[in-house]
Amino acid sequence: MPTASVPTQAISRKAFVHIQQLFHRASGILLPDSKMPLVASRLRCRLAVTALPDFDVYCQLLQSKQGKEEARIVVDLLTTNETYFFREPVHFQHLAQQVLPAQAGQEIKVWCAASSSGEEPYSIAMTLARELGDDGRWSVQATDLSRRVLERARRGVYAMARLDNMPPDVLRQYCLRGTGQYQGMLRVAPHLRQRVDFAEHNLMHLPQGMGPFDVIFMRNVLIYFDVPTKERIVQLALQVLRPGGWLYVGRSETLYGMNLPLENVQPSIYRKSRAA
Ligand SMILES: C[S@@+](CC[C@H](N)C(=O)[O-])C[C@H]1O[C@@H](n2cnc3c(N)ncnc32)[C@H](O)[C@@H]1O
Repeated sequence: MPTASVPTQAISRKAFVHIQQLFHRASGILLPDSKMPLVASRLRCRLAVTALPDFDVYCQLLQSKQGKEEARIVVDLLTTNETYFFREPVHFQHLAQQVLPAQAGQEIKVWCAASSSGEEPYSIAMTLARELGDDGRWSVQATDLSRRVLERARRGVYAMARLDNMPPDVLRQYCLRGTGQYQGMLRVAPHLRQRVDFAEHNLMHLPQGMGPFDVIFMRNVLIYFDVPTKERIVQLALQVLRPGGWLYVGRSETLYGMNLPLENVQPSIYRKSRAA
């Protein structure tokens, strides 16, 4: 039986290549040609907002003097921001059970790189607060390329979905349940929100004025880069990780074969050499 066809605005090859290069320059991520339909579907809303007839004319806007802000929006719309609280719990367990006891009494600074909409850095802050106290000597610096997700992260309001990994006592202690128009939502408690600093940062550049850190979470983002770019990004990050500090990457990511001063302690958990 024929399916009803939804009218879609296709993208020309020329317009796709223009946007592909723009996004590559801005993020370091090269979208393969297979992502043409995805690019068209994510950016279609901008044709409506700008009242432009097609992507070729839209690319003229991107090239114009007024195109700078629009290019930011393109980058925002093309980043993949999938995340949730206490994703890949093994890292939070390792932090609580291995890293924190070994640092007892010392200040601990964590960088959550590519923090998306905030669920990950708040999960880190919840772990630190639970182990070291709400007023303990710890801090979380969270960064992302996308301004849109950083705004969401600073608000700290989330749907009460995908909380399966959040320990019930953490939910009670650090989250406020929404009522009225916020029914079905939660807000991270203000005293925890204020312990996490959010800033815009592109992993392709050396972090300026940040660190040094004891722990870096850089999870589920390296997967989007080619191997040389991935290696460069980790090298830059390691410049702000203390010798003996810890690096967590996503469970499906690996730094295998790269020339980095890291010991692979267990899958996705690395420790920087003390001599580096
Ligand atoms: C799939 S999310 C991962 C979120 C979180 N780390 C997690 O594991 O749940 C990837 C994030 O990387 C960010 N990102 C992509 N390229 C980046 C870059 N060059 N610099 C900084 N952040 C980047 C995206 O904006 C997005 O929020």
